Amino acid sequence: MTITSDTPVAIIGAGPAGLVLAHLLKAIGIDSVVLERRDRGYVEQRVRAGVLEHPSVELLRDLGLADRLEREGLSHRGIELAFEGRRHRIDFLDLVGHSITVYGQQEIVKDLIAARLAAGDPIVFEVDDVTIDGIDSDFPTVGYTHDGERHELRCRIVAGCDGFHGISRDRIGEGPSGNTVFDRDYPFAWLGILAEAAPTIDELIYSSHERGFALYSMRSPTITRLYLQVPADERIEDWSDDRIWSELEIRLPTGDGFSFNTGPIHERGITTMRSFVSIPMRRGSLAIAGDAAHIVPPTGAKGMNLAIADVAVLAEIIDDVITDGKDERLDDYTDECLRRVWRCQHFSWWMTSMLHRFDDDPFRRQLQLSELRLVTSSTPAATNLAENYVGVALGPSLRSPATQAGDGRSLAGARSLASEGKVDR
Ligand code: FAD
Ligand code: DHB
Repeated sequence: MTITSDTPVAIIGAGPAGLVLAHLLKAIGIDSVVLERRDRGYVEQRVRAGVLEHPSVELLRDLGLADRLEREGLSHRGIELAFEGRRHRIDFLDLVGHSITVYGQQEIVKDLIAARLAAGDPIVFEVDDVTIDGIDSDFPTVGYTHDGERHELRCRIVAGCDGFHGISRDRIGEGPSGNTVFDRDYPFAWLGILAEAAPTIDELIYSSHERGFALYSMRSPTITRLYLQVPADERIEDWSDDRIWSELEIRLPTGDGFSFNTGPIHERGITTMRSFVSIPMRRGSLAIAGDAAHIVPPTGAKGMNLAIADVAVLAEIIDDVITDGKDERLDDYTDECLRRVWRCQHFSWWMTSMLHRFDDDPFRRQLQLSELRLVTSSTPAATNLAENYVGVALGPSLRSPATQAGDGRSLAGARSLASEGKVDR
């Protein structure tokens, strides 16, 4: 027997995209059901991103979801780029008037889950066999199995926020117009660790070294987050704690008045790197957002922020469709997202290309060093990096008090600013 229920919006995936979308919809008075394949503990412990752009912080604040973020998040006014043994500061606050916030993705996920469950709104964890039917109609259904029982959600819109390995993207490609994929692999990966070691500096260091890239980051006053460029097929078992620390010692600019603490490593993993965009991002009543639609290499910290930006656009369009019956607004979704998607794709590819070791080609290395010297010595070049790093505004109306008052109109206008790519200064 199948248990049937109704909801305006079915959201597949309880990552940053799915959870932020559920909260945005709630703020404008639209109910939704979030379906998640994993259990709550798993999604709350999954260590990933750490940097929130200024507009992402503003959006969470306006939704009333930033209390702990503001207490525990680390506000950084810039980053450092290191090469040829020296560190160079890029001061975002001076250059573009905004800072960034370092706060673990799993902490955001914890905050968003807790707030949603406290409000009595549904997240169904540990669902299996999720199916989407009726995509090309106005009455799609999402099927899933939970606790051994089959369920069917009848809805108006399905939001595929199920990450890169989810099921939603393929359903768009199966449509009569198919889909187009833009894809680039990199010949390296990031080995990331979380260590119980107090950070010794309060800004991130992106280090371009002859042996490969290294990144010094942190999560709290007692936890350091570090990354090392490794070959794409590297095995984590081949990296002992000693090997990790000594490689970091070589690649980070420790000769320049900087040294770092070591400590027990609590978490380690290898992440492959790729650039990927699949268009369109919507077919019929199904729209995909975040990593389900696009992936960026992590250099530049754009992935989670881009996921949040997509759902800011999607929430406004869903509002137009469900509250005002403007079904044609769904046609705008892909184009309204793509401008930002490609800006972030370019920025992430550029940062990756400038900072990583690709091969032994001395010509390429000299080009990298020349670009690093330019970015760290020319104000226009540094401003370009800063503007992209702190993020393009999502639109002032998203920050209006009316958003918190549950006024559906408060999202109007966010779309136009987001797609025009205006920068908030
Ligand atoms: P996800 O977080 O992948 O969430 C998708 C959810 O859907 C998951 O919970 C998954 O379990 C669920 N799901 C999948 N399939 C199904 C299904 N069939 N049914 C139901 N549920 C399903 N980004 C930044 O902005 N800043 C950073 O500093 C940064 N650093 C990073 C560092 C690393 C090492 C890595 C790996 C990534 C980093 N990113 C960063 C990228 C960022 O983590 C992702 O872009 C972000 O998680 C995307 O969010 P999402 O909600 O789209 O997808
Ligand atoms: C972190 C991740 C990134 O991809 C990045 O560019 C900066 C920081 C982090 O996990 O702290």
